Amino acid sequence: MIPYRKEPVFITAEQCPQAGRERMTLPQPVANYSAEGYTDPEPAMLEHMRKTGAVFMMGQNPKLPVMPKKPTLLDFFHYRFCDIAFRHLLQSAKHAMDAGCNETVIMACLLHDISNGAFLRTDHGYWGAQMVAPYVSEEVSWAIKYHQALRYFADEPAGFKYPEAYLQFFGPGYEPPEYIQQAYREARNHKWYMTSRLITIHDIYSFRDDIEVDPDIFTDLIGRHWKQPAEGLGFDNSPVAHIWRTMIWPNNFL
Ligand SMILES: [Fe+2]
Ligand SMILES: [Fe+2]
Repeated sequence: MIPYRKEPVFITAEQCPQAGRERMTLPQPVANYSAEGYTDPEPAMLEHMRKTGAVFMMGQNPKLPVMPKKPTLLDFFHYRFCDIAFRHLLQSAKHAMDAGCNETVIMACLLHDISNGAFLRTDHGYWGAQMVAPYVSEEVSWAIKYHQALRYFADEPAGFKYPEAYLQFFGPGYEPPEYIQQAYREARNHKWYMTSRLITIHDIYSFRDDIEVDPDIFTDLIGRHWKQPAEGLGFDNSPVAHIWRTMIWPNNFL
């Protein structure tokens, strides 16, 4: 476990819903597409269900940490985000803080890859912006959406070169699709361009596994820039509550 991550709390299979039954977890359909094409594990699992009385998992997975009843933003960092996302978001925000950026930029850095944490990588800027929109300023959400496109386009006067990592991830000469190019053109002429550009600038330095950042240093900033719902994320009936619930119970069959 990496430093500053809170100790996870688990419950036993007997304390979970459907106790006493074998509970099967079916991957989400989007995870069934791969370099090999489409594979669908569902028919074999249905067969197993008919033969053995196993059921599909609903509710708490005993292998995942239990979330508090009214989860906060940092609860998702501690109990759901993968280690890479946990470190990367905290390092990115700390890097922006140390560079003297304003709080809007620091907040945007803290949240910019939130979708990669425990939800979806594909179009992560768009998903991330949507997930946080009810809880942050319009500027923060806008900057998160557009950072995805801006990462593909250098702005050397502002201090951003095309990422070395992208040469490795996608190969030299990779061209982003038209909708990303269009998003870049839109962002370039927008009043909040630099907010999003600063995400990409502090992003690039923040994939180290030898720097640990304590999330608690952002508690006051989050208090000022994040509208935490009293019911907890996932239970406030906001237009995106279902996304947060999906991260709490990612194995629900339906
Ligand atoms: Fe990103
Ligand atoms: Fe990032």
